[in-house]
Amino acid sequence: MSRVPDAAERRCGMDVGITGKDAGFTSKDVGSTGLDLGFIGLGVMGRPMALNLARAGTPLVVWNRTPGRCDPLREAGAHIAGSPAEVFARAGTVILMLADESAVDAVLGRGTPDFTARVAGHTVVHMGTTSAEYSAGLRDAVRAAGGRYVEAPVSGSRVPAEQGRLVAMLAGEPDAVAAVRPLLAPMCGETFACGDVPGALLMKFSVNLFLITLVTGLTEAFHFAGRHGLDQGLLRAVLDAGPMASAVSRGKAAKLVARDFDVQAAAADVLKNNRLIAEAARKAEVATPLLDVCHALFGETVAQGRGTEDMVAVLRALESRTGA
Ligand SMILES: NC(=O)c1ccc[n+]([C@@H]2O[C@H](COP(=O)([O-])OP(=O)(O)OC[C@H]3O[C@@H](n4cnc5c(N)ncnc54)[C@H](OP(=O)(O)O)[C@@H]3O)[C@@H](O)[C@H]2O)c1
Repeated sequence: MSRVPDAAERRCGMDVGITGKDAGFTSKDVGSTGLDLGFIGLGVMGRPMALNLARAGTPLVVWNRTPGRCDPLREAGAHIAGSPAEVFARAGTVILMLADESAVDAVLGRGTPDFTARVAGHTVVHMGTTSAEYSAGLRDAVRAAGGRYVEAPVSGSRVPAEQGRLVAMLAGEPDAVAAVRPLLAPMCGETFACGDVPGALLMKFSVNLFLITLVTGLTEAFHFAGRHGLDQGLLRAVLDAGPMASAVSRGKAAKLVARDFDVQAAAADVLKNNRLIAEAARKAEVATPLLDVCHALFGETVAQGRGTEDMVAVLRALESRTGA
C-alpha cells in the first residue's frame, strides 16, 4: 500500500500515482529519493516551467548544460544536480525540455551504456518538439531498456509558460500518462491525452499549423494595409473588435503596429516547427499548401539574420518580396 502523501506532494498531484511503487517500479529502481521529480533543460521555456513546479512545492532536481541558468531554481528551492546521471539517480520521473533531438540523445547518453543505466525503471517525459519518428524511436528504446516513456509537447510560448498556462498534449501507455498528467498541473492550464506515441506530437503539429498560418496571414494583412497607406492602429482596432480576435491575434497585432520584434516565439524555432510539420505531411502524402508558403517565408526571414526575432519578423520577408 502507498504511504499517505505529505502536503507538498498533494499540492503537486503526487497523490495520484507517482510513487515509484505506484508507477510499477520498486524503490530500488527509482533510487532512494525517487519521489523527486527531475527536470532537464532550463531554456526559454524550461526555466519558467521548472520554476512553476518548484514554487508549487514539487520536490525538484534540475540540471542544465549551462550551469548559470540553474540559479533561479536554486533560489526557488530545487536541488541542482551536477549531471544528468545525478538527476536520474534522484528522480523516478524526469521531464526533458530540450532544444532538439541531439540534445535529448546527449542528455540520455543514447548509444552508450549510460542510456540503460539512466532510463531503466524511470519514466522519461519528453516535452520539447522533435519529429514524430524520433519520438516513436525513443519510446521503443526507453521501453527496451526497461523504462517508460510519455510524449508531452506543449502549445504556448514564454509568457504562458511563465503564467503556468501551457496546454500539454500527452501520449503513451495510459497508466504512464495518468501518472504524469497531474505532475504537469503547475505548468499547464489544460492537459489532453492523445493516445499512443506519437499522437501528441502530431496533435501539436496540427495546432502549430494553424498558429503559423494564422500569424503569417495576420502579418500579411498588416503589410497589405501599410502599403495601401492605411492606419495600422485602426486595422488593429477593427480586428480586435471583430469575430476573429484571439489572444494570439491581439498580441501579434500590437507587435506589428509597433514594429516590435522582441522574441516571444523565435522565427528560427517557428521555421524548425514548420519543417517538422512539412516533413510529417510529406511522409503521409498530405497536401499543406498554406504551410508550404509559410515555410518559404520563414526560411527567407531566417536567411536575413532574423532568426532570433519574434515570428512577426516574417514581415521582413514580405517586405523584401514587395521590394522597397
Ligand atoms: N520557445 C517556444 O515558444 C516553444 C514553445 C513550445 C515548444 N517549444 C519547444 O520546446 C523546446 C525547448 O524550447 P526553448 O524555447 O526552451 O529552447 P531554448 O531556450 O533554446 O533551450 C534549449 C535547452 O536545451 C538545452 N540544450 C541544447 N543542446 C543541448 C545539448 N547538446 N546538451 C544538453 N542540453 C542542451 C539548452 O541548454 P543551454 O542552456 O546550455 O543552452 C537549453 O536548456 C524546443 O524543442 C522547442 O521547439 C518552444
